[in-house]
Amino acid sequence: MGKALIIGAGGVASVVVHKCCQNSEVFEEICIASRTKSKCDALKAKLDGGKTRIQTARVDADNVDELITLIEGFKPDIVINVALPYQDLTIMDACLATKTDYVDTANYEPLDTAKFEYKWQWDYRERFERAGITALLGSGFDPGVTGVFCAYGAKHYFDEIHYIDILDANAGDHGYPFATNFNPEINIREVTAKGSYIENGKWIETEPLEIKRVYDFPEIGEKDMYLLHHEELESLAININGIKRIRFFMTFSEKYLTHLKVLENVGMTSIVPIDFEGKKIVPLQFLKAVLPDPASLGPRTKGKTNIGCIMRGVKDGVSKDYYLYNVCDHEECYKEVGSQAVSYTTGVPAMIGASMVMTGKWKKPGVYNIEEFDPDPFMEALNKFGLPWKESFSPKLVD
Ligand SMILES: NC(=O)c1ccc[n+]([C@@H]2O[C@H](COP(=O)([O-])OP(=O)(O)OC[C@H]3O[C@@H](n4cnc5c(N)ncnc54)[C@H](OP(=O)(O)O)[C@@H]3O)[C@@H](O)[C@H]2O)c1
Repeated sequence: MGKALIIGAGGVASVVVHKCCQNSEVFEEICIASRTKSKCDALKAKLDGGKTRIQTARVDADNVDELITLIEGFKPDIVINVALPYQDLTIMDACLATKTDYVDTANYEPLDTAKFEYKWQWDYRERFERAGITALLGSGFDPGVTGVFCAYGAKHYFDEIHYIDILDANAGDHGYPFATNFNPEINIREVTAKGSYIENGKWIETEPLEIKRVYDFPEIGEKDMYLLHHEELESLAININGIKRIRFFMTFSEKYLTHLKVLENVGMTSIVPIDFEGKKIVPLQFLKAVLPDPASLGPRTKGKTNIGCIMRGVKDGVSKDYYLYNVCDHEECYKEVGSQAVSYTTGVPAMIGASMVMTGKWKKPGVYNIEEFDPDPFMEALNKFGLPWKESFSPKLVD
């Protein structure tokens, strides 16, 4: 069918490349381009020889001109951005200049402020519409599948959804005292930020990790979980009909939080540059350099993830509860694609989102969040490509 340019060659990109190769009818040709070309070449070496033709390139995705040259040379139908959120806008600029469709998994963040909001990317709406190209925002798991789950609930089971709780549990154990499952800088920025949720149309802010609940997750068991700010809350509160309150919880072990607290107390999680031996360094970036590379956790991680959405609302005047979730096994993921479940659960939906746009099912000029499209073909593809979902009509609720 067509060609995709994949930008980034980290944990998530590796899964995207594997999954594009499994879906060679859609992805006939891919180009893996990143800052460190040797990582792209290593991925190509692993997967070359199948039906999907693979090439690689070096690109600095902070540089719009370099991106334009790359896109004009390869002529992809879509760019799959699985670099870092800092590159979202430069890649969108290059897509605009070359009239190429765009998909990502995380919303733009400026390097010097840990702040997630869609404003920057929503500002591209008119320009993408005028150019006749599609930008699909947030096609990972959360954001991503969580938005598709909510759209599926809204389409099939509710007239109005009043309450949504998104629950993200990772019961994986990698055996290290402290490591993050995806890019440490992005992960730690997310966890140490203030929490927030939306109630009656207003953001309510909390101190970092102030709100804690215990939840008994299917196939995982009881876990401590904490309320975090998460980007999909902003778009879902607008796009899902009837929302009164929407929250996001993620599980963390006591061990993880104790390490994090100490690192925070000594200043290692700060993103404010400091002078070190005559050079400016950002403590959090230095910490990233000494922590285990998330891509190396795959062979060591055992256990499962469970991510899903509990919805409460009404259908035909009757109140209703509905829980949609996916359980993913770290070791199974590693066996299949050589990555742990956190990269897997992000990379599979990134490939599926790109295939929805490429096959025309979700092709619509403009900038869209994932829940704005018909969820059914995406839900079908989740079952086909390794993230089957389960549903419950009498879930335990979160107070
Ligand atoms: N929605 C979700 O559920 C979800 C979940 C997890 C992660 N994510 C997102 O997925 C994305 C990838 O995460 P990851 O864990 O794969 O991160 P990662 O392992 O750190 O990989 C990031 C990749 O981007 C490349 N890169 C960084 N800056 C670049 C630049 N200026 N130009 C070109 N390439 C650049 C890096 O190159 P080098 O190799 O040279 O460093 C690396 O290959 C992130 O945006 C993350 O926020 C989303």
